Amino acid sequence: MQERSGPMNRQDILYWLRERRPEHLEELWQRADNVRAREVGEAVHLRGLVEISNTCRRRCAYCGLGAHRSELQRYRLASEDILASASRAGKLGYGTVVLQAGEDPQLDTDELARTVETIRSRHGLAVTLSLGELGGAALRRLRDAGADRYLLRFETSDERLYAALHPDQPSLDRRLDTLRLSGELGYEVGSGVMVGLPGQSVETLADDLELFDRLELDMIGLGPYLPHPDSPLARGKVDVPATDDQAHSDEITACVMVALTRLIRPKANIPATTALATLCPQTGRELGLRCGANVIMPNLTPRAQRALYEIYPQKACLAEDEQTFHDELCRRIHALGRSVGRGRGDSPAFLARTQAKRQEVS
Ligand code: 5AD
Repeated sequence: MQERSGPMNRQDILYWLRERRPEHLEELWQRADNVRAREVGEAVHLRGLVEISNTCRRRCAYCGLGAHRSELQRYRLASEDILASASRAGKLGYGTVVLQAGEDPQLDTDELARTVETIRSRHGLAVTLSLGELGGAALRRLRDAGADRYLLRFETSDERLYAALHPDQPSLDRRLDTLRLSGELGYEVGSGVMVGLPGQSVETLADDLELFDRLELDMIGLGPYLPHPDSPLARGKVDVPATDDQAHSDEITACVMVALTRLIRPKANIPATTALATLCPQTGRELGLRCGANVIMPNLTPRAQRALYEIYPQKACLAEDEQTFHDELCRRIHALGRSVGRGRGDSPAFLARTQAKRQEVS
């Protein structure tokens, strides 16, 4: 590799995606960490994650919440429960709640819009939504109610793999349209992929990174693929594209993707994900934070429902009490020489993007 600083070209990206030697990877971690410090600072923003419904009409091949899991007990939180979780987020000092659910047709948009309004007015928190491929009317209604951000991973930019993994709605373009519409409605837009899906090549990961840039994403989430034993993908029932360039679903590849994402979208908010923490329980959060991440999303789903949101098995922070988890997290953040973020922690990429647009208009 010749170019050791400055923008990344495709060759550099592939070089790092194929590098496996820890002593060589130090250089990449360092570069990503420097860019992170310069562009988004030392603060680690905490977002309270509330999983408001595990009901889902889709059958995504990798996911443990898919409609194929007829034995899974389903729940949908009442507004009071969502508000109680938001209140706990406020008390812990978080600036954002993330309301996430499966694609639940029974989730009432008007009722959710009122809940969003209340969270904004009563607690002054930013609200992030992650509710799958919502239609334009619902996206608009929730945005009007004050929702600030929308998260929807595109999971892979390989159209054939995407179609194999999403049998109910095989169009990647449709998902990208939802992301574009979210941006047009004024949401801060987040997306991302799983790393190491069967049939996902290293070249595809490079395509994913280029798509993050083209979509001008404000938030980007990346985690290793973790097989769920009751999912069609883990059972080998999915006809994924053959590849002799299979990406690994391991800690190194996930961290290389985080680091390259930081270099490609320097001002984006990037979480150290629960999936990475699940893969490496002792070190996952630190690894993510040291190679470019600046956000953590502690789980504030009520204890009674938490284990039912089983996207993949053995999810990290299932057992912890919220205050204990919070105290431990703050200790670990400080031990890295970082600080705990205050305020909403809006994405600097979003601020830059909207400012540029305002200047274009005036
Ligand atoms: N392993 C890792 N991540 C998963 N997700 C869904 N299923 C799995 C799995 N088996 C991720 C997807 C989804 C996010 C909410 O969780 O990327 O967008």
